[in-house]
Formats: sequence, structure tokens, C-alpha cells
Amino acid sequence: MRPAYYRLRERQVFHGARAKALYELIGWLCRNDTDLVFMNYGYADPAAEAAGETTLAGAERYSAWLYHAVAGRAQLMGQRVLDIGSGRGGGAAHIHRHFGPRETVGCDVAGQAIAFCRRVHGAIPGLRFVQADAAALPFGNAEFDAVTNVESAHCYRDQPGFFRQAHRVLRPGGKLLLADFTPPRRHPAEALGTLALTLAGAGFGDIRIEDVTSRVLHGLDADDARRRREIDARFPIGTRRLARLWAGTRESWIYRDFAEGRRAYFIVEAVAQPLRPLPSSLSPEGRVPPEPVAAIA
Ligand SMILES: C[S@@+](CC[C@H](N)C(=O)[O-])C[C@H]1O[C@@H](n2cnc3c(N)ncnc32)[C@H](O)[C@@H]1O
Repeated sequence: MRPAYYRLRERQVFHGARAKALYELIGWLCRNDTDLVFMNYGYADPAAEAAGETTLAGAERYSAWLYHAVAGRAQLMGQRVLDIGSGRGGGAAHIHRHFGPRETVGCDVAGQAIAFCRRVHGAIPGLRFVQADAAALPFGNAEFDAVTNVESAHCYRDQPGFFRQAHRVLRPGGKLLLADFTPPRRHPAEALGTLALTLAGAGFGDIRIEDVTSRVLHGLDADDARRRREIDARFPIGTRRLARLWAGTRESWIYRDFAEGRRAYFIVEAVAQPLRPLPSSLSPEGRVPPEPVAAIA
């Protein structure tokens, strides 16, 4: 029988109710760490860095750069942007500061995350945070010009439901910009093929998927020492091995899965197409835009 560690490796560890519990716990543990505002693997392009093409600074610059690489794929000036799975709010604040939207809304299922964001970023005009599940968004139809989603969708139990909700809150022609990694036990190309079909089924078109694994690995390499330091400083002994997996440090299996091609990190761009009524002979199930729901808080 294989050791528990290897059996765990083949599962989506941070998923569904476990993910919510984990992010509530991290939110509580780090409730006063106002210098930690990102929770993603980061992104780096050594050539662009050498050419001085990035001016991002600060300890969490690789994580900010991932948001930059995602949000830079749409024209957001004067637009309304929804960041789903906004975590500790650094990404929504980064978009708001650097891309000039009229309004940016961050939403996350974890109440601790939303409380932190309201405390830390709450004074920024035009930026606000709402607690909500990605598959039950408390927003009206066509309220947003762009939806961003960074390293959060792998947590969702109902990904097709999330895509249908993202499509519903986007105006026709609005963009979904998503960064995430492929699941365990699936060949990356096959997982990305399924993803494209699921997006198309939810009403998205012009779907582009870019494999950015090498850039994420560059980011993880460049940020490795800081990640280890932060974990040792902020997480109790006994939780640090799991924290290193979560943070993607170099000895973690997720890092090795990326490095050895078992899993891929990708960025998706997709455009919300207008929904056309189906012929009455076909079942409308899954094509009717779901109703907005009330906010959790
Ligand atoms: C890895 S963190 C990424 C946070 C942020 N996007 C960033 O890059 O810093 C994943 C986030 O997704 C949120 N999340 C997990 N499941 C969710 C769901 N069903 N609906 C909304 N947010 C969810 C978690 O609470 C967590 O804050």
C-alpha cells in the first residue's frame, strides 16, 4: 500500500468545503499580516526582467505580476471588473491601481478573507469586497465588463456552474480572464481540452488558452526563499509541510509536477457570447442564465 503522502498527491487537496475551511483558517492565522495580500504561485519572465520591462516592486511582486499578466489581456480603463476568488485582495487592488477601472469588486467565499480585505483595502475609492460563492454570485445580469479569476477555480466543486455565473454577470462581449493549474491524474492537454469545451458550453467564445508553466516556475524559483521564510515565521510547526505544498516551494510535489510536465499552469481569455434561445425541441437545461442570488454577507 502506498504511503498517505502519495495518495494525497493524487487528489485535489484544496477543493470544495476543504478549500473554504483552509482559507478561513489561513485568513484567521494571518489576520494581522497586512503585508501579505496575495496567495498565488506568481509569474516571472526573466527576459522581460533583464530588459527592465517590469517595474513591479515589493516583496510580493511575482504574485502581483501574475495578476498583471492576466488583467493586461483586456482593456479595463473605465470598466467594471469583478475579481472572483479575490483572497486577501492584493490582486483586486493591483488591478484597480494599475488598469484604471471605474469600479473593481472582489468576491470570495471565505468570510475571513473579506473581513481582511475590507479592513486593509476598504478605503480605496471604487474598490469593494463581497462574500460570495463563485457558483452563486449576488450580482445582476451583465453588470461587469470583465471577470478575473486567479488560482481559485481549482477549488470549486461546480466549475461549469461558475462559468455559467461568470457568463451571466458579464455583458455580451465582456471578457473572462482566468489563471489556474490543471488537476492531478489528468494529462494537461486533455484537461485543457475539457476546460475549453466547458467554457464553450457556458456560452464563451474566442477561447484562448496559454500554457505559462515555465513563467510560473521562474516566479516560484525567484520567490522560494521568501516563501519558506514566511511559512516558518507565520505557520505553527506541524502545519509547515502542508503550507509549503500550498505555497509551491521547490520541494513540494506541485512544483515538481509543473517542472516534470505532469501538470500545467495556464491563462485563459474567453469572450462572453450573447445567449441565443435554443429551438423548443431541445432541452434548455444549462442554457438558461441562472438567477442572481443574495450575498452571503
Ligand atoms: C489560492 S487563493 C487565490 C487568491 C487570490 N486570487 C490571489 O491570487 O491572491 C484561492 C482563493 O479562492 C477562494 N475560493 C475557494 N473556493 C471558492 C468559491 N467556491 N467561491 C469563491 N471563492 C472561493 C479561497 O477562499 C481563496 O481566497
